[in-house]
Amino acid sequence: MKCVDDFRLRLAGRELVPIVIGGMGVDISTAELALEAARLGGIGHISDAMVPTVSDRRFKTRFVKDKLKAYKYNVANTDKSDVRFDLGHLAEATRLHVGRTMDEKRGGGLVFINCMEKLTMNAPKETLRVRLSAALDAGIDGITLAAGLHLGSFSLIEDHPRFRDAQLGIIVSSLRALQLFLRKNARLNRLPDFVVIEGPLAGGHLGFGMDWAEYDLATIVTEVREWLKVEGLNIPLIPAGGIFTGSDATAYMEQGAAAVQVATRFTVASECGLPADVQQEYFKAGEQDIEVNGISPTGYPMRMLKNSPAIGDGIRPNCEAFGYLLDSAGRCGYIEAYNNEVAKHPEAKKVTVMEKTCLCTHMRNFECWTCGHYTYRLKDTSRRLSDGKYQILSAEHIFHDYQFSKDGQIALPTVMDSVP
Ligand SMILES: Cc1cc2nc3c(=O)[nH]c(=O)nc-3n(C[C@H](O)[C@H](O)[C@H](O)COP(=O)(O)O)c2cc1C
Repeated sequence: MKCVDDFRLRLAGRELVPIVIGGMGVDISTAELALEAARLGGIGHISDAMVPTVSDRRFKTRFVKDKLKAYKYNVANTDKSDVRFDLGHLAEATRLHVGRTMDEKRGGGLVFINCMEKLTMNAPKETLRVRLSAALDAGIDGITLAAGLHLGSFSLIEDHPRFRDAQLGIIVSSLRALQLFLRKNARLNRLPDFVVIEGPLAGGHLGFGMDWAEYDLATIVTEVREWLKVEGLNIPLIPAGGIFTGSDATAYMEQGAAAVQVATRFTVASECGLPADVQQEYFKAGEQDIEVNGISPTGYPMRMLKNSPAIGDGIRPNCEAFGYLLDSAGRCGYIEAYNNEVAKHPEAKKVTVMEKTCLCTHMRNFECWTCGHYTYRLKDTSRRLSDGKYQILSAEHIFHDYQFSKDGQIALPTVMDSVP
């Protein structure tokens, strides 16, 4: 019987352990987590979501304060079209986050950055160009284009000196999305170095509608693989979403996947950015405690724990400080939803907003508990301690469990003081 370790991913002239830890914004997939994946010979992701606030928290910069100061006059205004990112600050924050991470890299693996197109930041093209270029400048090994079709993203960096040597890939959820991407970029004569195929059981935003349950990762992977074969294209395919055990991963590898991308299992790693009390919520969750809802202002369905503090919370929009989801006209679905509730309840000190959430604020504060479908199985990956809590795992333990386990087994961590 085979295990993941019987396979290798050939990328960037290396032979890697074919395990990719997916990007989890906002600093849930921390530098520490990504660096562990690289040290162990696989690929880890940091995320560029809200990187100025991540930089403030990590490196004591003042990007958020400075932006809020510049636009303070607009806080009570419902029109946010004025609120712009300082592109110099954005580049600096990205270079800090990426540069410091890459300085710490050890081992034979790689560190990539997850870059979401849906973070439109009131100037989609300009801000995305800066984010991508600055990450390349700072030495990132590769970029995974996420959350969007990215039809113009390659061309934003085609003149960058690293455009042809950095590993550039894209996440898609359908063959059609991949075909569109390839067609749009044909003129650049540069194929993606890898394609992550993310199915409907993943965490974060889904590339499906509310009918997500009608789709199935294995079927989409087969469709894409067959099509690439017919086209004579040799691009490594990396399935993602609901791959919970080493055996799940091995099954994809045996069918020709180049690697697997996983995330949910690592939400309970000590290197993960989620606060310890939130990690216990992930452990405790049952299947009935997880939902896919439409409260993300991006318009994409998102999976999360039903007890996420973000759900229903009616805080005033924080676009002057954050504003990552403002479209090119300075609009965000949450602003509208919030204003509607305020108009309905003019006397209320605080309103409840069920329709949308202020995703910037809540992701920043770890109050939107997005998670994969199989989060309810996390409790089976650890031990219950005598204080009733679950034991937090090391990223190394989880990584090795994916790499070496067979027969659907999940290795439990070394006993601390677990309940018998
Ligand atoms: C907590 C959490 C946050 C996530 N955030 C992002 C994100 O910011 N960008 C992205 O492209 N994917 C995001 N994802 C998706 C993962 O990168 C990954 O592809 C997917 O969750 C893999 O499926 P699994 O969680 O079932 O292993 C997130 C997943 C989780 C669990």
